[in-house]
Amino acid sequence: MGITEKIIIDTEKIRKEGKNLEGKQVTIRGWVWIKRSSGKIRFLVIRDGKGFIQCVIENPDLFSTFDEISQESTCEVQGLLKEDKRSPLGFEILVQNLKILFKTEDYPITPKEHGIDFLMDHRHLWIRSRKQFAILRIRHSVKNYIREFLHKEGFIEFDSPIFTPSACEGTTTLFEVDYFGEKMYLSQSGQLYQEAGALAFSKVYCFGPTFRAERSKTRRHLIEFWMVEPEVAFATLEDIINIAENMISYTIQKIIENNYYELQLLERNVDNLRKITPPFYRIRYSEAVEILKSKGLEFNFGDDFGSPEESAISESFDKPVVITHYPKNIKPFYMKIDPENQNFVLNMDIIAPEGYGEIVGGSQREDNYEILLQRMKEENIPIQDYQWYLDLRKYGSAIHSGFGLGIERFVAWICKLEHVREAIPFPRMLYRYRP
Ligand code: 4AD
Ligand code: MG
Repeated sequence: MGITEKIIIDTEKIRKEGKNLEGKQVTIRGWVWIKRSSGKIRFLVIRDGKGFIQCVIENPDLFSTFDEISQESTCEVQGLLKEDKRSPLGFEILVQNLKILFKTEDYPITPKEHGIDFLMDHRHLWIRSRKQFAILRIRHSVKNYIREFLHKEGFIEFDSPIFTPSACEGTTTLFEVDYFGEKMYLSQSGQLYQEAGALAFSKVYCFGPTFRAERSKTRRHLIEFWMVEPEVAFATLEDIINIAENMISYTIQKIIENNYYELQLLERNVDNLRKITPPFYRIRYSEAVEILKSKGLEFNFGDDFGSPEESAISESFDKPVVITHYPKNIKPFYMKIDPENQNFVLNMDIIAPEGYGEIVGGSQREDNYEILLQRMKEENIPIQDYQWYLDLRKYGSAIHSGFGLGIERFVAWICKLEHVREAIPFPRMLYRYRP
């Protein structure tokens, strides 16, 4: 049989249906990831976009083709599928035919260690490497399971605009854009529009890129990041915490179930992830401050938590911790004042374990027209730009709550990454926006 008459399959199919294909002849197309020899045997690890598979060449007639192949050359491999318990895929191919489709020379990313700047400059190629492959497939699945969860819960996807005339999270981190001579901004959060959506459709969410002109150069900050923002009519702070906990737990358990291959490629210890089930720990801001004090950290009551504080707090917990009731002064105008203590708001931040910091920010929203107007005035918010938002409290106002989850921080935690920059295909950071 010539190499042209064959059924081409991919490694995803091999992973899922390999048992039925064992001993059969298979053909895959892909790129050479690793090439090596050992005595009389030659090995190629091929990546085909769905996974990585070892191909074993014992037939000396194929050695000259093997010698011509280099890393990232495109090729077609035909051979017998054999179980290989040591590989995460579970199978290897005993090669019978080998064909080069495109030759590659001098691929810049070699198996040796490269510095981060070099890798970032070659991000368009770096995404092919095994770790990046696993992370970005998990990112895809995370987005998918979040949507699946929300749809099961009766949410509809309701898109917020990216160009906005008004700020949501404070004016210091806005990206200004010239909109035919008018000043506009790139969205920091779709929340305000989701509030309009919740009063029209009861349970809505948006899922898209958001932008912050933040001069922060940390492991947790991107300039462009993706956020999912559910918003629910008639939901209290308590209700929205439950939704967030369930959404996070559902997604993680689905990832363990269906992305085990990728987690194995990352050598992620899944025992810590299996524990992520509701309920999470819940403490108030004031209790979080006590924890910091008990650890001997210097901290002034009333300040906001930064990365060091978040890490210190999360060390005490093996699951995410939900921190509620922050001081009003450090939180945005739209959060509902705690009726029991006017100095605090009905908000929540969820801090991930293993040092990943804040992954969720949310709150019950101020539903009273007068109080909201008062708070906006106190904070010098240009009321004329927010008339439409105030309308939501004038016509059919209702208790409502929502939150935003940052996808890159969530993925970084699930994959146990050093930095959020690897959790998005083409990161935008303070000093890095190419390619
Ligand atoms: O806490 P934030 O600023 O909340 C809001 O934007 C609300 N309006 C959301 C809402 O209630 N609908 O951001 C929410 C989450 C954070 O917890 C974090 O996970 C992520 O977005 N985030 C960032 N991720 C990466 N880089 C940044 N610069 C981020 N800023 C926020
Ligand atoms: Mg926040």
